Amino acid sequence: MSAYSRITGTGSHLPPRRLTNDDMVAMLAPKGIETSDQWIIERTGIRARHFADDGVFASDMGADAARAALDAAGLTAKDIDLIIVATSTPDMVFPSTAAIIQHKLGVAGCPAFDVQAVCSGFVYAITVADAMIRSGTARKALVIGTEIFSRLLDFNDRTTCVLFGDGAGAVVMEASDTPGLLASDLHADGKHVGILCVPGHVSGGQASGQPLLKMDGQAVFRLAVTVLDRAARNVLHKAGRADTDIDWLIPHQANIRIMQGAAKKLHLPLEKLIVTVDEHGNTSAASIPLALDHAVRSGRVQRGDTLMLEGVGGGFTWGAVLLDY
Ligand code: ACO
Repeated sequence: MSAYSRITGTGSHLPPRRLTNDDMVAMLAPKGIETSDQWIIERTGIRARHFADDGVFASDMGADAARAALDAAGLTAKDIDLIIVATSTPDMVFPSTAAIIQHKLGVAGCPAFDVQAVCSGFVYAITVADAMIRSGTARKALVIGTEIFSRLLDFNDRTTCVLFGDGAGAVVMEASDTPGLLASDLHADGKHVGILCVPGHVSGGQASGQPLLKMDGQAVFRLAVTVLDRAARNVLHKAGRADTDIDWLIPHQANIRIMQGAAKKLHLPLEKLIVTVDEHGNTSAASIPLALDHAVRSGRVQRGDTLMLEGVGGGFTWGAVLLDY
């Protein structure tokens, strides 16, 4: 048993194919659908996103991100005794993407499973990993968020198809006597299923329903701003910390306006907000670990910094995690 779990390495993967807003304008124009670089930037802060090529799966990107996180932690896959993957775009209905990634990393035996909480998936997954490490069930865990949302997008719906991208991020979490993950606050409310969903399933050998993303953007926006602040306040209270203790806010990267609103409510200057939505779009469960890895590798997030991670997404699900990096 350990008092804490601690992030000891981060990694990420972005597919090489980068599409700017102008590329999206050109893609949608032949369908008679109008959008513009200006509209997308003003409403969302997004300038570009990455789309995976055909034949690339969430497990490929997740395994790449995991290898980078293992390198950063000075470990190999053989050292890992738990793999948790947050994804809503698994390779298959089953088995889990975690089991597939385990095999791609060339190891076998340790528990591996997926967590499905859409864009809150990563905060859910590190909370589960933390609990398993502190209970003594695991000592060295890989926690991965990986998504190929481009395959769920309706390219006839300009209100959603310009918002999302593909990518993966990963962390290694290890048992530690020093903090560590300090507190976590997770929630779900299934009555909001309809405002953000992919209403399809596999039945009788084919996809049935409508397996494309549907979102009531304004309803999601209103809910996100309220619940994120509540979750952030809850984790600060649970950890006995104040908003002035936060060095970096790393929220789910969906919309710059939601993210800046969250920072303002915590009285944080915008310089303390990690932003990658401009270059990545919304990568769902991958967005927080991707943003964390970019912030670590660019030298902004340093050892000892206190990080507030906030996720919100379909379900509705939401939550926050406070940790000392
Ligand atoms: N290009 C040009 N015009 C557009 C586009 C587009 N891509 N999309 C919509 N418009 C138009 C609309 O048709 C509308 O036109 P109208 O006024 O003539 O009717 C106008 O722009 C305004 O549309 P709104 O929906 O009011 O735009 P809004 O400012 O609310 O921005 C957005 C929409 C970006 C989706 C915003 O509501 C949002 O970010 N919501 C939250 C999304 C989010 O946070 N998701 C997180 C969870 S994701 C997950 O869990 C998978």
